[in-house]
Amino acid sequence: MAKQMIIGNWKMYKTEGETEQFLKELIPQLAGVTRQVGLAVPFTSIKKAAVAAKAAQSPLLIGAQNMHDVSEGAYTGEIALPMLLDEGAQFVLLGHSERRQYFGEDNAFINRKVLRALESGKLEVVLCIGESLEEREAGQTAAVLSEQLQACLAGINPSSAAQLWVAYEPVWAIGSGKKPSSEEIGQAASAIGAKLKEQLSAEAAKVGILYGGSVSEKNAKEILNIPEISGVLVGGASLNAGHFLKILQA
Ligand code: PGA
Repeated sequence: MAKQMIIGNWKMYKTEGETEQFLKELIPQLAGVTRQVGLAVPFTSIKKAAVAAKAAQSPLLIGAQNMHDVSEGAYTGEIALPMLLDEGAQFVLLGHSERRQYFGEDNAFINRKVLRALESGKLEVVLCIGESLEEREAGQTAAVLSEQLQACLAGINPSSAAQLWVAYEPVWAIGSGKKPSSEEIGQAASAIGAKLKEQLSAEAAKVGILYGGSVSEKNAKEILNIPEISGVLVGGASLNAGHFLKILQA
């Protein structure tokens, strides 16, 4: 069975105090959850969350939502890999569509970040890709996903496949309440799997493929039952511990 994980992406929500409160509610409930669980929190909450998870001997993984590709330098406002590791981050989301859309990140920049994070051997990487509505309507979904993978994973060593996750997040499904059908998600995941095989040969089987975009307690079970999918990336519904827990138990 391929690896599995459910990840919450908090985006730009929650102060340290709110993070502490959330984890007080969530961590005791995780005892009955069999899946691997991750939370991608704001930079300012990483340390608090990582310390809380460790103190409770919880298997909860704490991650970041972005990082720069250079280890240090004159990049005002940016965060580097050694800083994330020092805070206790165990994984990082890279290439989220909000980073691409609002902060102008392109595939080449994302590729450098992916290489940096994987080469450290210390962080798991969740690479986010997905098509726009226009691309889907033009029948270009598989081609767009393949192009993003080609560029974002250029030059990666197949031996780092076990550290890698690809999150399929259609841009039009994020925060919209809309999502592709299970069949469409399965088809997109198959296209991703085929491209990964081309890039990583046999090691491709070690990459987990997640779905993200309007995942809720109502649809999580159906999505988690799609054979090609190894978990979900949850935005809005991960902000409330009770809602998130229902997804973890789906
Ligand atoms: P959403 O966000 O669940 O709120 O649609 C998903 C994401 O952006 O990762």
